[in-house]
Amino acid sequence: MCGIVGYVGPKEAVPILLAGLERLEYRGYDSAGLAVNSRGRLTIKKTVGRLEALRKLLAEEPLAGQTGIGHTRWATHGRPSDRNAHPHRDCGQRISVVHNGIIENYLELREELQQSGHVFLSETDTEVLPHLIEENYRGDLFAAVRSVFPRLRGAFALAAIAAEEPGKLVVARMTSPLIVGLGRGENFIASDIPALLEHTREVYILEDGEMAEVTAERVRVARVDGREVEKSVFHVKWDVAAAEKGGYEHFMLKEIHEQPRALTETLVGRVARETGRVTLPELGLTGKEIAAFRKIAIIACGTAYHAGLVGKYVLERLLRLPVEVDLASEFRYRDPLIGPETLAVVISQSGETIDTLAGLRLAREKGARILAITNVIGSSVAREADLLLPTVAGPEIAVASTKAYTTQLLNLYLLGLYFAQERGTIGEEERREMVAGLLDLPRRAEATLALEETVRALAEEYHEKEDIFFIGRGLDYAVALEGALKLKEISYIHAEAYAAGELKHGTLALVVKGVPVVALATQPAVYEKMLSNIKEVKAREATVIAVVSADDHETEKTVDRIIRLPEVHPFLTPMISVIPLQLFAYYAAKARGCDIDKPRNLAKSVTVE
Ligand code: AGP
Repeated sequence: MCGIVGYVGPKEAVPILLAGLERLEYRGYDSAGLAVNSRGRLTIKKTVGRLEALRKLLAEEPLAGQTGIGHTRWATHGRPSDRNAHPHRDCGQRISVVHNGIIENYLELREELQQSGHVFLSETDTEVLPHLIEENYRGDLFAAVRSVFPRLRGAFALAAIAAEEPGKLVVARMTSPLIVGLGRGENFIASDIPALLEHTREVYILEDGEMAEVTAERVRVARVDGREVEKSVFHVKWDVAAAEKGGYEHFMLKEIHEQPRALTETLVGRVARETGRVTLPELGLTGKEIAAFRKIAIIACGTAYHAGLVGKYVLERLLRLPVEVDLASEFRYRDPLIGPETLAVVISQSGETIDTLAGLRLAREKGARILAITNVIGSSVAREADLLLPTVAGPEIAVASTKAYTTQLLNLYLLGLYFAQERGTIGEEERREMVAGLLDLPRRAEATLALEETVRALAEEYHEKEDIFFIGRGLDYAVALEGALKLKEISYIHAEAYAAGELKHGTLALVVKGVPVVALATQPAVYEKMLSNIKEVKAREATVIAVVSADDHETEKTVDRIIRLPEVHPFLTPMISVIPLQLFAYYAAKARGCDIDKPRNLAKSVTVE
């Protein structure tokens, strides 16, 4: 998720672009840049690092011009560097482009362009855009972008300027957001509303497949097929703070709701719909290397560790390989039995957790191959790993991890299916069924978010409780652990998760009249056992809130409250069943007046021991 801004009008563009990028830093900040058209001459200034680094560069090398585009990057392809920063340009230095999202078919486009003599300077997917536009440019930037659009696959938003057309911006949208800000004698574009608010509250929100030609006096919106579009003006009522949260009260709630898009973007380029095969070219592993692994060691902390626990069930089921999951803070001191035949999967949203980094280094010392699942491409974990399978969730601002967790899970399922394909441990039909289920996940996640009001009412009903238990079996147990962590870290309610079969070995002593127990009962193979565990706690007069599958009409006869999930493949349920638990934690904390995005004693990334 990156930030895009643009300006065209009578004022100097640079200060407006920089201020806009500052408002979008929450969308990404590993590098930044801008391009300005000054009387027919395009100049680009860009640098790795936070926006401050760009400000310093521009103070030393000022830029003049009234038409410009800017970008703050959250790397998905190509590590953070000056070369990979946006904007990118064509060979003739006449066209400059900034982009947000992923161009799924960039490798084949790059190959084709290089064949016809184009010279690439970066490792990014974005750089195919200015060269493709250059191929089609005959003096009309809008027409050139329109002719390129149908060749692009993936989720993206782009903004372009051309030297020969000062006073003009061209933008296009496919999935990633893009907005046109309507000024008086000037106009603006941005990825998100916060960048526009100091100039205008009147905007066009572009839809997928729409483009716009923006000058100081006019905004022309059309569909890719050329049909003009009459846009209605959206009047923004939010203040800047609310706008950075997309109108949500907290980043956590915004990020819970971003999960369908995060899942979509994490899937892009990794699943071939036609063949139902998973493709992870970014790993660069041969079939022989994949077949050679004899063990998998997952190393992580907190929520990432809980993702690893789901990963154990998933990878052992798909690969029939032993999978160990360790808290990084334990792993680093137990002299683990791993070696060259081990794949160490290091999971970290921030990529900077000190214990996880130490675990990575220990695994390397012992000869293991290191695969990182992280949300920050330029992070220490990403840089020190041998293999990188990034989540594409965009910056996660709230301390409580939500969209990073579900996209970590998605990456573990993709890794398991990919290895199972290569090792021949999964049949064609089962694999196709699971891949179809993964492709359907964003829609299922959207449907689960529709349970928000039901869950909110439950959270408000039980928010004054001091102890809440979460129980489950198998995959449900792993998700129950994450649900308990979410609740305790932001509402400060004492919440614990237990394997349901473990209750009678001690914890049942704490289950007395009125104690809320959240019971996850989505796994068919252990459903009967789970139902008897629910009856066990009901017999002690606990209040049971059950999370059940779409077709389960049995459990409701026994419990007090029901959260019914949408239809989803049982094996894929964790990416869906966690969402009501995230919402429960959020609304319980809200009802208790807690500081949800910044809970006491906690940091977003634990970079010190
Ligand atoms: C999760 O909600 C917490 N913020 C915390 O447990 C977090 O998951 C843990 O510190 C690991 O962080 P990482 O994924 O950035 O390594």
